[in-house]
Amino acid sequence: MAYLLGVIGNPIAQSKSPLMHNKWLENEGLDGFYQAFAIEPEKLEAAIIGMKALGFNGWNVTIPFKEAIIPFLDELDAAANAIGAVNTVVRKGEKLIGRNTDGLGFVQSLLDKRSADQLKQASILIIGAGGAAKGIYYALAKQLPKKIAITNRTQLRAESLVRSISVESPGCAFSIGEAQERLGEFDIIINTTSAGMFPNIKDMPLDITNIKKNALAADIIYNPLETSFLRKARLNGADTLNGVGMFVHQGALAFSYWTGKYPNSEQAINTIIQDQGGTI
Ligand code: ATR
Repeated sequence: MAYLLGVIGNPIAQSKSPLMHNKWLENEGLDGFYQAFAIEPEKLEAAIIGMKALGFNGWNVTIPFKEAIIPFLDELDAAANAIGAVNTVVRKGEKLIGRNTDGLGFVQSLLDKRSADQLKQASILIIGAGGAAKGIYYALAKQLPKKIAITNRTQLRAESLVRSISVESPGCAFSIGEAQERLGEFDIIINTTSAGMFPNIKDMPLDITNIKKNALAADIIYNPLETSFLRKARLNGADTLNGVGMFVHQGALAFSYWTGKYPNSEQAINTIIQDQGGTI
């Protein structure tokens, strides 16, 4: 059986997912393809019906459809339900199951830098309160860290994130000013905002100067590979993690749901870094 896979979004031309998934299909000796589809928002339902009729095994979902696709699906997994967003659709017989691998993908990537035990002892600051922050908050909370704080340019959104997502030990919301003042308390600081993403590469979500030495600064952005936020953190003695690992692991988890095989993520991380013009 050939796997029919893909990603729907708009715009989608810049997506690195086809490069990554087609390589994985080839490496695993699986027949099939993974194709990017730019869908007009008003044609979302028609596209889903079409993909189902064509026999697609599953597909990824990206901006602007992560929430809009939910009414057309039959079931959601716990993460997609808690976050209210889907990045992976898995077809089971006639049913379409919505899943979310973004948060877990980030945690997998974090585990390349810190052990599960270190995560349990960590105080973590998440910057941002959008869809990406929600997924990361939900998945990180399952690692039972000592503390999770959320800060956001619009503080009300940080507060509503903490209220709306139910986790075992809820985090707290800080203003940007408070977070900046207390920056030295955190072992891991994660930028989930788009501040610093190409072409606005000078933007920073907050002043990171007072980051604790040996703390870890993580960004979910991978264009550029080193954002201003990561650069400043590195120059202040912190360890850094860029967004390539999260991108690869969210894809690897999706690939494993479709095919039953967890692909080689390390090789894919190196391929994406090279593709972004970076060195390994
Ligand atoms: P996503 O689903 O990718 O997380 P989103 O829901 O639009 O996208 O959320 C974007 C996040 O980035 C928000 O936390 C946003 O802050 P606001 O809630 O105040 O809008 C944050 N963000 C975007 N641009 C930013 C900037 N230049 N500085 C600081 N935060 C920024």
